[in-house]
Amino acid sequence: MERRVVWITGASSGLGLHTARALAESGFTVVAGARSFGEGKAAEGCLCLPLDVTSADSIDRFARDALSAHGAPDVLVNCAGILVLGACESYAPDELRQVMETNFFGQAAMISKVLPLMRECGGGRIVNFSSINGLLGIPFEGAYTASKHAVEGYSECLALEVKPFGVEVMLVEPGDHRSGSRAYRRHSRGITASSPYKTAFDAGTAVIARDEDGGSDPDALGRRVAKALKRKRLPRRLRIARTDQLLAVVLHDVLPAPLFDRIIGSYYRERGKR
Ligand SMILES: NC(=O)c1ccc[n+]([C@@H]2O[C@H](COP(=O)([O-])OP(=O)(O)OC[C@H]3O[C@@H](n4cnc5c(N)ncnc54)[C@H](OP(=O)(O)O)[C@@H]3O)[C@@H](O)[C@H]2O)c1
Repeated sequence: MERRVVWITGASSGLGLHTARALAESGFTVVAGARSFGEGKAAEGCLCLPLDVTSADSIDRFARDALSAHGAPDVLVNCAGILVLGACESYAPDELRQVMETNFFGQAAMISKVLPLMRECGGGRIVNFSSINGLLGIPFEGAYTASKHAVEGYSECLALEVKPFGVEVMLVEPGDHRSGSRAYRRHSRGITASSPYKTAFDAGTAVIARDEDGGSDPDALGRRVAKALKRKRLPRRLRIARTDQLLAVVLHDVLPAPLFDRIIGSYYRERGKR
């Protein structure tokens, strides 16, 4: 059965924008949501509606307007996400909560909104953006990594529960990709000049920024997602990352933890000094 109408969140920037465009180019009817669509931004080829995934009212308004424009969604792509870089010890509670609210609770709220519509139509597809950080941790991404691990576990449970209703679930697990906006990579207030983590944080976040700047092509990822959505069956996971990042996932699962920690720790420490 061909799936036609896609609702996609976080479509004003980065991978969400590239995926929305790729979906529109490959023939889907795309309703794109993001907060800044209320402030004049747009994604070509898509109906762009304001959406804040952390607000129940905003989700209701988005769903009402999307439904009246194109009817029920065949596909939901949950892409909205933010990153607050910081040390686990010194995240402010509101920083941790904001990341979880956007990256995890926001996805869950969108899923609860679309599932009754999909059930009524006899099926649908849900695509949740996770990350390689949904599979392993790196220094100073504690809040983000926690949210993406939540997305992974939740999506596995969801897939089992909704299969009888004809709904499929796919996790997208990107490694570093170019084009993500710095506006969504804030630094925690807890990293002050006198923080005991300051030196390691500066080195680690320099590596994180460099890896992202030299990351993979976001258009290619968008096309991979669109291609997967044209398939008869969705894969459970679409892992799109450089070979070294794919290898890190394997090593994480097979090496003893102290050895894996030494490899990852030195990667962020030593390369950050260069
Ligand atoms: N880029 C990468 O290397 C990479 C790697 C792994 C995973 N990912 C995942 O891919 C997704 C996109 O990340 P990105 O770095 O490519 O994009 P990005 O440039 O960081 O853009 C983030 C998007 O999320 C939206 N957003 C933030 N808070 C929102 C809210 N409360 N409600 C609705 N939308 C909200 C933003 O739009 P508004 O501000 O307009 O609302 C924006 O469109 C995220 O889930 C991220 O975790 C990215």
